[in-house]
Amino acid sequence: MGFGYIKTDFNIRCNYKDGAWGELEVSESEHFNMHIAATAIHYGQESFEGLKAFRGKDGKVRIFRMDENAKRMLDSASGTLMAQVPVEKFMEAVKKAVKLNEKFVPPYESGASLYIRPVLFGTGPQIGVRPADEYMFMVFVMPVGPYFKGGFQTTPFVIMREFDRSAPLGMGKYKVGGNYAASLVAGKKAHELGYSNIFYLDAKDKKYIDECGAANFFGIKNNTYITPKSASILPSITNKSLMVLAEEMGMKVECRQVPVEELATFEETGACGTAAVISPIERIDDYDKGISYIFSKDGKPGPISEKLYNKLRAIQYGDDEDKYGWVTVI
Ligand SMILES: Cc1ncc(COP(=O)(O)O)c(C=O)c1O
Repeated sequence: MGFGYIKTDFNIRCNYKDGAWGELEVSESEHFNMHIAATAIHYGQESFEGLKAFRGKDGKVRIFRMDENAKRMLDSASGTLMAQVPVEKFMEAVKKAVKLNEKFVPPYESGASLYIRPVLFGTGPQIGVRPADEYMFMVFVMPVGPYFKGGFQTTPFVIMREFDRSAPLGMGKYKVGGNYAASLVAGKKAHELGYSNIFYLDAKDKKYIDECGAANFFGIKNNTYITPKSASILPSITNKSLMVLAEEMGMKVECRQVPVEELATFEETGACGTAAVISPIERIDDYDKGISYIFSKDGKPGPISEKLYNKLRAIQYGDDEDKYGWVTVI
């Protein structure tokens, strides 16, 4: 099992019409009908989320920080003038999708999990550039394999200034489909060159680090966890959680602009997000300047990255106490 679409038994749907959300509906179909002039397909009125459910040693299923995903979808909806899905409705749909597909939540020992994909989009017709009057919110799930098949490992990333992910005052802070369409060419080139993903710099000055592929960046030095502050990156829920855990571990946490040259000073670096928790970085090649920033020579992640990774996973799988109320047991 890798990370790909797998059919499960049920998905949850909810329609917004005449100014109000309807009831949650359970569907067994992988398809739906949509108007040919729906704003989702013409003007990109679309937003999605990604979160996971984990089966613990005790057999219980835990969903990680779904209220945070619900709130982020509220922001994405306001950034694209879509109808907002109330937090309670979002969480009810997620719980329902997980419960109805419980048999697809992989066993504890596998290190795999159930990926949850909520999606919101304009279904109502518009041909002028205007928001739709009708929307659909849907949640489907699929089992996904462990991100690191050969154990927790480092991979190389690349800086390429010919690509931007989002504009300084643009849509980067929202989880909207257009940002991912805009990243496909850059991602393809990075993969073809043997990198796990591209490292984006701020689009205006190309001076500061934004984020890496579909993940936030962090660097570690002098017992400090440092992560970029930027208006054009997605506020990662994993990053937010790691900052709390870093503080708990006695580290200082700094969320501030990170100049590219500062890469030379970090002891450890990583990309963080729902998919991997932490994807530790082996090296970052500056493609345009011919410089390499090297963080690991033997493929092994640094000790602090490993500790943070183990700590967050232990909370997700229910091995450690959930001090912060991050998990919902189903
Ligand atoms: C662009 C981008 N940045 C960062 C992240 C990491 O966010 P999270 O930790 O909430 O998964 C994601 C993944 O959702 C992403 O798509």
